[in-house]
Amino acid sequence: MEKLENGGKEYIVAANWKMNMSAKAIKSFLEEMNQVEIPKHLRTIIFPPYPYLNIFQKMLRYSRITYGAQDIAKEEKGAYTGEVSADMLIDMGCSYTLTGHSERRSYYAETPEIVAEKTRAAIMHSLTPVICIGETLEQRQSGRYKEILKAQLDAVEASVRESMGVCMIAYEPVWAIGTGVIPKISEIRDTHKFIHEVLISYGGTYRKTVPILYGGSVSEKNVREIASVKYVNGFLIGGASLNAERFKTIIKLLSVD
Ligand code: 13P
Repeated sequence: MEKLENGGKEYIVAANWKMNMSAKAIKSFLEEMNQVEIPKHLRTIIFPPYPYLNIFQKMLRYSRITYGAQDIAKEEKGAYTGEVSADMLIDMGCSYTLTGHSERRSYYAETPEIVAEKTRAAIMHSLTPVICIGETLEQRQSGRYKEILKAQLDAVEASVRESMGVCMIAYEPVWAIGTGVIPKISEIRDTHKFIHEVLISYGGTYRKTVPILYGGSVSEKNVREIASVKYVNGFLIGGASLNAERFKTIIKLLSVD
């Protein structure tokens, strides 16, 4: 395979399984993944549904694959039926949590402020938040999308300030999620550059190192092309991450020899 021109950068390959998979399917998926040699420059993170975190804890003890939760409570503890706290996620061995996925923002009415509080809760417990941001098709077409993305980032920054430096950002255009449609490469380049510039504008050189992942219809067909885009530091993958063969292919495609 020809060398991937990545300038020596690390890639993050994250799998968001959403409300999919079963205990049985996960066991065989992880058995297969445990055979894979993950190159040093790849960080692999899986976000399974909550009830399966214990399988990850048992099966990935000696693995280079890390894992996290798809969501986190903004509260510490108490009478919040159905919620899962940062402490509980730590107990389950999580290192990461998603915050602000567009499905949470739209189906569960999570406002930018709620996303900011959840991100803060994660940071307070040393969980790395992967903050998801993205615009709808209507917002993209109206040309307002940069404003929208900035507002989503600003809300978190206003709450976590300096700690923005320990977060990761996942840019997921809502119109590219699960649709098989991806933005033009030039649009991905332009948007990632914009996100990078917004992070820089908050001040502090460490913000240059906040990884910016791309998500939305990533597959084995497009991952290498997107990986070569400046300011793309990795991927948040839904559908294509549910199948071990496809996920392994993506990892292989991002392996630099
Ligand atoms: P798809 O890869 O299925 O488009 O999902 C992307 C996503 O929402 C990951 O968080």
